[in-house]
Amino acid sequence: MQDLKGKVAIVSGACQGLGKAIVHALVAQGASVVAFDKQQGIMDAVAEITSESEKNVLGLVADVSLIDDCKRVLRCALTEFGGVDILVNNAATYRQTPVTSSWDQAVADWDYIMDTNLKGVLMLSRLCIPELKARGGGDIVNMSTYYVLPARSPGTNSATTDLYNASKWALNGFTDAWSRALSRDHIRVNGMCMGATDTPMLRSLFRNNELPSALSDNVMQPQGIAQQLIDLLNDGRTGENIGAWIGSPIEIPPNPLPHQLISG
Ligand SMILES: NC(=O)c1ccc[n+]([C@@H]2O[C@H](COP(=O)([O-])OP(=O)(O)OC[C@H]3O[C@@H](n4cnc5c(N)ncnc54)[C@H](O)[C@@H]3O)[C@@H](O)[C@H]2O)c1
Repeated sequence: MQDLKGKVAIVSGACQGLGKAIVHALVAQGASVVAFDKQQGIMDAVAEITSESEKNVLGLVADVSLIDDCKRVLRCALTEFGGVDILVNNAATYRQTPVTSSWDQAVADWDYIMDTNLKGVLMLSRLCIPELKARGGGDIVNMSTYYVLPARSPGTNSATTDLYNASKWALNGFTDAWSRALSRDHIRVNGMCMGATDTPMLRSLFRNNELPSALSDNVMQPQGIAQQLIDLLNDGRTGENIGAWIGSPIEIPPNPLPHQLISG
């Protein structure tokens, strides 16, 4: 079944991890995809898909924290595929930011994290929204994290990552306000709030990039979250954070609990 045939998606941070799995899932559903990343490796990641068969996927080296790059990504979607229906704000940066670090370090860390995790989301989404409206509606999916929902699993949230944590909590501001402001234009805006998923970002937290056995036995796989994103696109709801926890089925909850509604 190819439910997304004829749809055009943009995915940021698509070189590896969740972004790469999401591109594979979107293409498998028949969507045309502009997949971009600040790493040159995006071109190999996309070549893997195009070599499997003739697929509508284009790779771009672009940095979502730079406005000219965001404009170039959108231009590519418009000229190559004729529009945009789905924007997946997946790219994020992560680093330790202890509250005891120097002032200069803290300000540099702020720019490193927020320029991608928030300003990048703002810029690319603002550019895409008129195009989503022009198509009669569409989807924005913000990749958040499980701890903006009541935490039910041990994981990577830590007192020494205040800026990363803050950037994910702040995404709720976009998801909530945009979902309400854009519903009349049939643009749905949701957050995905997964726990530990086996990606280079998660592995970078551990020595030699090796997951401890307690985690490697049950860590979620990017493909599972990518399928959940496809299910979310087919579901049609808006203004929600969708959780995924180690040890629980990765699915779209049938009836959102009040605490899962961002404005609830
Ligand atoms: N893996 C997890 O356990 C987990 C848990 C919760 C949330 N998340 C979120 O899921 C998303 C994907 O995470 P991941 O684990 O796949 O991360 P990852 O670091 O493995 O991949 C992120 C990709 O984004 C790219 N990127 C970073 N900054 C960019 C920029 N300015 N412009 C363009 N590309 C940029 C990187 O080059 C990388 O390829 C992120 O938003 C992350 O915060 C991940």
